[in-house]
Amino acid sequence: MTSPELLSLIFFHLTLVFFVLDLANAQGLKVGFYQQTCPSAEAIIKNTTAQYISRAPSLAPALLRMHFHDCFVNGCDGSVLINSTKKNQAEKDAAPNTSLRGFQVIDAAKTAVEKKCPGVVSCADIVALVARDAVSMIKGPSWSVPTGRRDGRVSTAQNALKNLPSPFSNITQLKASFGSKGLSVKDLAVLSGGHTIGISHCFPSVTIRLYNFTGKGDTDPTIDPNYAAALKKICKPGNLTTIVEMDPGSSKKFDTDYYTMVSKRRGLFQSDGALLSESTTKAYVLSQISSGSTFLNDFGPAMVKMGQIGVLTGKSGEIRKRCAFIN
Ligand code: HEM
Repeated sequence: MTSPELLSLIFFHLTLVFFVLDLANAQGLKVGFYQQTCPSAEAIIKNTTAQYISRAPSLAPALLRMHFHDCFVNGCDGSVLINSTKKNQAEKDAAPNTSLRGFQVIDAAKTAVEKKCPGVVSCADIVALVARDAVSMIKGPSWSVPTGRRDGRVSTAQNALKNLPSPFSNITQLKASFGSKGLSVKDLAVLSGGHTIGISHCFPSVTIRLYNFTGKGDTDPTIDPNYAAALKKICKPGNLTTIVEMDPGSSKKFDTDYYTMVSKRRGLFQSDGALLSESTTKAYVLSQISSGSTFLNDFGPAMVKMGQIGVLTGKSGEIRKRCAFIN
């Protein structure tokens, strides 16, 4: 081999190495981002989460949902944590977010991390790490969370209303919503499985479906009639405070039961039932109720993908001092 040939071979290989490194660093996040700047960050966050989840495991679904709601509005930038001010109604106070719970866990983790490494770890990363830790602590799947997100400075209720999918969505609307965030139809089917844990308020997501589906006092005809009858016993019309399990009998267990329920037309929301009205999502639902289910392996990678939506990295945004307030 001549020396120009050798040089071009080396050049080709170096380009390949940089390309692969670049892919691994997609969006500028990487696993272990705080290894040099705050090596104990992930352990501190895990300990704080454990303290809360051991006392109140029902916070786990709430913390998973918080990460989803953060990522779908302005990207995963901790904007869901910001308090409203006199001049600005923040995401937190938009209707779909008033049922979010678990802000105290994020605040406690932030306080603990700030004590060790002030001004280093973002609130957005804490939300992503706490969601992972909470799910794995209730014996759900676990995954490595790429970190390095920075915190946003914008949070508006209007943006939340525009970007969070409604429980009354049909499959076309759900595909458009997830697609607009760079998520695939399979991601939609996998991430909807988050509804294997947790609770919902009857009103409005369930009661409208049960009592006023087309505005004529009717029930959604796509819901299994026995399930509708059971739900009507719990969710009375006009009741604003009653809650109902998302995945009846198994709402504390991170398992594939959600898909069994959806396949029997027992998904709680129209958006759950909608997974049956498209070939890819329907095939995914049905494949999860057989012995070869993949959901528990699919969930982590889909969460990693969701966790990269619109992230701020490098010098963008800021590292908030307190998660509820812009610096
Ligand atoms: C596909 C579109 C989705 C819609 C329309 C939707 C809608 C909802 C609604 C209306 C609730 C009940 C809130 C309440 O009344 O208290 C809820 C709860 C929940 N959602 Fe979703 N969601 C969607 C996707 C997701 C995703 C992608 C995840 C996570 C990966 C998720 C995780 C959860 C969890 C864990 C709960 C229970 C929260 C708790 O126990 O406090 N959802 N969702």
